[in-house]
Amino acid sequence: MAKKTVKDLDVAGKKVIVRCDFNVPRKDGVITNDNRIIQALPTIKYLLENNAKVILMSHLGKVKTEEDKAKNNLECVAVRLAELLPGTKVTFCPVTRGEELEKDVADLKDGEILLVQNTRYEKGESKNDPELGKYWASLGDVFVEDAFGSVHRAHASTVGIPSNIAENALGFLVEKEVDMLGKAVDEPAHPFVAIIGGAKVSDKIGVIENMLEKADKVIVGGGMAYTFEKALGHKIGNSLCEDDKVELAKATLEKGKGKIVLPVDTVIADSFSNDANTEIVEGDIPDGWMGLDIGPKSIELFKETLDGAKTVVWNGPMGVFEMPNFAKGTLAVCEAIAELPDAITVIGGGDSAAAAIQLGFKDKFSHISTGGGASLEYMEGKTLPGIAIISEK
Ligand code: 3PG
Repeated sequence: MAKKTVKDLDVAGKKVIVRCDFNVPRKDGVITNDNRIIQALPTIKYLLENNAKVILMSHLGKVKTEEDKAKNNLECVAVRLAELLPGTKVTFCPVTRGEELEKDVADLKDGEILLVQNTRYEKGESKNDPELGKYWASLGDVFVEDAFGSVHRAHASTVGIPSNIAENALGFLVEKEVDMLGKAVDEPAHPFVAIIGGAKVSDKIGVIENMLEKADKVIVGGGMAYTFEKALGHKIGNSLCEDDKVELAKATLEKGKGKIVLPVDTVIADSFSNDANTEIVEGDIPDGWMGLDIGPKSIELFKETLDGAKTVVWNGPMGVFEMPNFAKGTLAVCEAIAELPDAITVIGGGDSAAAAIQLGFKDKFSHISTGGGASLEYMEGKTLPGIAIISEK
């Protein structure tokens, strides 16, 4: 059975609460990447065109102290939304409950937007406090879940509201994410190659295990590859390593025999700096050096492994791509995936999405997820509570 989507709702004249993920990166209070706001626009525009009163909610950052509140005020998103939607009235409500919010909701007209302050200003948000979910639900008539980046969180705004409101549905962004991730992970065309990188085995072990069940090859690169190298008995110098995960890595290698593809050479550096001295080594990494990227032979091996793939999912960079001298491996993987003819290519959010976009590959994949933790949990095969709660058609 398929989930209801926003098109299944009658929204004209109704107060529609939309949970978005406007958790955007900022520097000195200025938004540095508005991709998540842009990706939320199709649902917002649809609701405006269909004469809904649009109440937007989102978290921003982590909020524990009063200082965190000041740092994570959502007003900057209201400003950006107004720029992106010229001619639409966008009101920002600086509080998350009480008279001012209720008046703003009552004053909202069809085709207008009200953005509510950061949901994490409320302590009960992350605990899915039942009273808070009920209160927020009482502000609207229907609920739309469009915060893909947050659907792995069972919070008051993602699960509490849809549990307490007459009708709920998915927005276009969540629908697209589930469709694309589903095609890649649950119904892959073969050969299916998964590329898993990033710093920690502990973050990615769930994905590796699920991919070993589903994919034909699982390429493992990035910082966590050194824990696997150590498991194989190699010296890894000062490279990243989770010592308490070496046994797990050993067991995973045993289970993934013939499927797991590890780097065969490494770009090593004598310090964690773009200007460090570098060398390329195969096998052991000498003391005093650390691996910061995959080497040229690994790039060739990974390209051969990807050759002919019909489905590729990628989560996690191959090296310290933020430093240009250690971005070559990640760049080469981006290029190799982008050049595959007729393949479904999906990038999990977080670092790999940032890498692909930063390296100029924004439009070269079938899909780049807006979710970091959410896409990771999807790839692990976990249930996402923010989607599970939405009604079936
Ligand atoms: C993200 O950036 O991955 C989402 O917005 C979720 O944020 P969180 O990890 O703070 O819940």
